[in-house]
Parts: sequence; structure tokens; C-alpha cells
Amino acid sequence: ARIADAEIQRGQGGETHQLAGGDVPVLTTQQGIPVADDQNSLRTGPRGPTLLEDFHFREKIFHFDHERIPERVVHARGYGAHGFFEAYESLSDITHADLFQRKGERTPAFVRFSTVAGNKGSADLARDVRGFAVKLYTKEGNWDLVGNNIPVFFIQDAIKFPDLIHAAKQEPDRGFPQAQTAHDNFWDFVSLTPESTHMLLWIMSDRTIPRSLRFMEGFGVHTFRLVNAEGKSTFVKFHWKPKQGMQSVVWNEAVKINGADPDFHRRDLWNAILAGDYPEWELGLQLFDEDFADRFDFDVLDATKIIPEELVPVRRVGRLVLDRVVDNFFAETEQVAFCTQNIVPGIDFSNDPLLQGRNFSYLDTQLKRLGSPNFTHLPINAPKTHVAHFQQDGHMAMRNPGGRANYEPNSWGSKIGGPRESRERGFRSYPAADSGEKRRIRAELFADHYSQARQFYLSQTEVEQTHIKNAFVFELSKVETTAIRARVVSHLLNVDEALARKVADGLGLEAMPQAAPPARELVETQPS
Ligand code: HEM
Repeated sequence: ARIADAEIQRGQGGETHQLAGGDVPVLTTQQGIPVADDQNSLRTGPRGPTLLEDFHFREKIFHFDHERIPERVVHARGYGAHGFFEAYESLSDITHADLFQRKGERTPAFVRFSTVAGNKGSADLARDVRGFAVKLYTKEGNWDLVGNNIPVFFIQDAIKFPDLIHAAKQEPDRGFPQAQTAHDNFWDFVSLTPESTHMLLWIMSDRTIPRSLRFMEGFGVHTFRLVNAEGKSTFVKFHWKPKQGMQSVVWNEAVKINGADPDFHRRDLWNAILAGDYPEWELGLQLFDEDFADRFDFDVLDATKIIPEELVPVRRVGRLVLDRVVDNFFAETEQVAFCTQNIVPGIDFSNDPLLQGRNFSYLDTQLKRLGSPNFTHLPINAPKTHVAHFQQDGHMAMRNPGGRANYEPNSWGSKIGGPRESRERGFRSYPAADSGEKRRIRAELFADHYSQARQFYLSQTEVEQTHIKNAFVFELSKVETTAIRARVVSHLLNVDEALARKVADGLGLEAMPQAAPPARELVETQPS
């Protein structure tokens, strides 16, 4: 709007030239060379061939040719926003993590919500798990809580992740469906993987078609540890509870919204923040010790199980507020790199085999996706605290060690000798005692795949139960192989017989299958 008509010139071929002047800056190349004409490439004569000498043309096309980077192998479609975390109280009795030491302390945060299976250009309201990844730029380094909006997961061991994701994404021969659970490969895999049953109940519930990213919960899923200054460890499950409450759409609405506005969720978040209607979540902790953990009839290292909230209530310890949209989608939302292994002193891992695998996977994939080991130099990934180390060079290095030393120990003094270890402040792993034979084996307590699925189903209202049933019927009706449909029903028989029958009826199964043999005796559970 600032360009007046008088600043427009027409070229010989009638093309538009807008000219710099006043407060309109001069266009330059990446090298800072001022550009005189951005409408015409350099030619020999008006109708002649383009010249190789045209460095402006070549640089512009070269850069455009390299605009795309690989999309995330999962969670490709996402949307992020900035905000802060504010502690309600000091948690120094349970953790020495700096962000939890002082009541009212604010820590800058970046959150990226995502769908899991769809490609970057897929629709927002696909029936899918939502990622809920939070980066907290604490004074002692970045802590990433890379969670989902469902508290459990499909698999117990990270070695199965490539199989799960291959089965969930488009089938390799035909290249579709792009973002649907409704296909043979997905249901084939999960029906052959009974540990998925609990997760299946959750994903067939309304939680996988949220009305807005602002109206959903988040979960860290795994059991982590909090460690206090005396070295005492407490197990913890992390929860994000939306202050807005929880809302979902129904399937009928989801299908229409996807057609009418595939960007429904990202538009909603963007508009809410710009309108000053900042979404807020409370951070909840479920805290328990090793003795308590040993009394559960499931293993707290099993990511297909929740810790029932009536046994371990959720303690709300702070709030997360999203109050700023990004300046640039690519620079921030696309280039942000979350990683479960980014933890800070006072927080530690458990031996959950899914978490242990994730700790390897994220860093590995990000080298490929972002193309350089220096992606922590990008502003969105850079800690907002003192960073000093001897790592150097590599593509796009912007933060090489200063001074003479790029190794230690060294003989150089405080000005040029670089950083040193700190016994007081440095991260120390919790000295958990582990021993055992080296074997590929799962713990026995991982083997009850149905009790908590039943508990979840029975805790739902009648309307919600009907939605779950309808979702099973709809999704499985897209599965062409009838044996796969029957296999899913054989698992549902161990969850709830009435549900299994309704799904079988809805699918028109000719005969009711036998219940799948439970790998471990089921625990009698009542709805809460
Ligand atoms: C990405 C959550 C299991 C590998 C993500 C993202 C989230 C997430 C939220 C998106 C991060 C973003 O917005 O940039 C979870 C949860 C899991 C789980 C809650 C189970 C509890 C796994 C497992 C693996 C894995 C078992 C592999 C062993 C990946 C990879 C990415 C990813 C490779 C892409 C990361 C990137 O390109 O930056 N996950 N995930 N995830 N996840 Fe997971």
C-alpha cells in the first residue's frame, strides 16, 4: 500500500517495475548486491537466450530449488506458538530442576501441536493422535516434554516404531490412504499387536477429533523421574490440563470441516492468540515412589498403561500460556527440533523401553531433516541461557568456541581456556541400580493388554461409548480383509463383550470370532 503509482514504471515489454525510494528498501541478492531489474533475466537482445553470467537469476532460482527440507517422518503436519510456563509453587522438596524452584517464576516456552500420520499438507481433522510437544527454555538448558494428547501408546518397545508407522502411513504400493486409520495395513498390524488394544480404544474415542488444539489435554506418557538436591528420586507422569476444558467434534462434523477448511485447527489457534484469547494449560504431576510402583499390577515402565488418577491424584504445579504467534512458520514451527533426551538437572529418565528408543531417534532424524549438527544454533532451538562447549565446525556453524582452546583439559587460563565442568551445577544421572542377563525379553508385567482398555471404555458415558463403537465400525468397514476385521473383534471380546458384539453386528460379521487368548490373567476393574 506504501508504493505510490508514481513509483511504478513499465518496462519495454509492458512488465511492472516497482522502485525503491523513501522508506522502501532496495532489493539485493544474498550477497547484498543491489538489484536493478527483477523482472527480466539477462539476455543477448530482447529475444535472445538467457546468459549463464546472470548471477542474480542463478542465485534466485538456486535458492528456490532448495526451499524444501524433508518433512518430519512422523508428526509432519504441525502448528506452533510461543508462550511461557509459570510455577505455582516451589517444588524443591521433589526436584532441583531450576524452573520449579521459585513460585511465580516464568520460563519461556514454545509448543508445537501436530497430527502423527498425515503428510505436511494433510487435513487438520483427521482421526489421529495429536502431538503436544513443549520446549521449555530454562536457565539450566532446554527441557523438551515431547508428549501426545493421549496418555498411552500403541507399542511397548521402540523397536516396533518403524513397523507401527509404516503400517499407519500410506501403503507402499498404492501410496494411499494418506492420513487415515481406515485401512488394512494399519488394522492388520494393530490386530497382530495386542498391546495396541488400550490405545485403540482411546483413538476410536472423540479425543482424536478435537474441536480445537486449545481444547485438548497433553501427556508426557512415559514415567520419568524427578530428583531433588539430596539425590532422592520420585517417579512422575506429566499432564497438561486445558483451562478451556475439553471439546471434540463428532465424525460427521470432522468430515465436513476437513473438506471446507483443512486448516481449521491452525487457523483457530492463530486467531485466538491474535485476539488476545490466550490458551492455557496447567501442568499436572502424578508423583509416586518405587515402593508404590511395585504394588501396581502393571509395570510403570509400560507406555500402554496409565496410572489411575484415583490412585495417584494429579497435582497442579504451574500453568503454560500461549500468547504469541510465530513470526515465520518455517523458521520456527518447521525448524524446531524437540527431543526426549533434552532434560535438565533435576529431571531424569526411567527405563521405559519406548522412551529409551525415542532418546536415540529424535537427534538422529533431526540431523537428516535439518541437515547439520548445528541445528541448535537456530534461534528457535538455541537455549536462552549460557552455552559453552568445545564442539565446533560442521555445516552452518555460527557458534564456534572462542579463545585458543577447543579441547580440555588444557593449560590456558580463564580468558582463553574455555569452560570447565561443574560438580555443583552439572547434570548427574540418577544412579539407578540395574542388573540382569543381556537378553531380548519383556517384563512379565507388560503382558495384560486388556484390563486398562476395559477400564477406559467403561469410564466413558453412554454417548461416548456409542461414538467409540461407531468409530470402530466406520474404520473397520474400510478394511477389505474380513479376517482382519474379525481379529480386531477377537480383542474387543476381552475388553467388553457388548462392544465386541455391536462392532461385529455393525460390520455384518458372519460368525463371532473366539476371544483372543489373553497373554496374562485379566485384572477385574470397575468403572471409576
Ligand atoms: C516426532 C511424540 C514415540 C520417533 C514426534 C512429535 C511428537 C512425538 C509430539 C512431534 C514433535 C514436533 O512437533 O516437532 C511421541 C510420543 C511417543 C512417541 C508421545 C510415545 C510415547 C516415538 C517413538 C519413536 C519416535 C517410539 C522412535 C523410536 C519420532 C520421530 C519424530 C517424532 C523420528 C520426528 C522428529 C523430527 O523430525 O523432528 N513424536 N512420539 N516417536 N517422533 Fe515421536
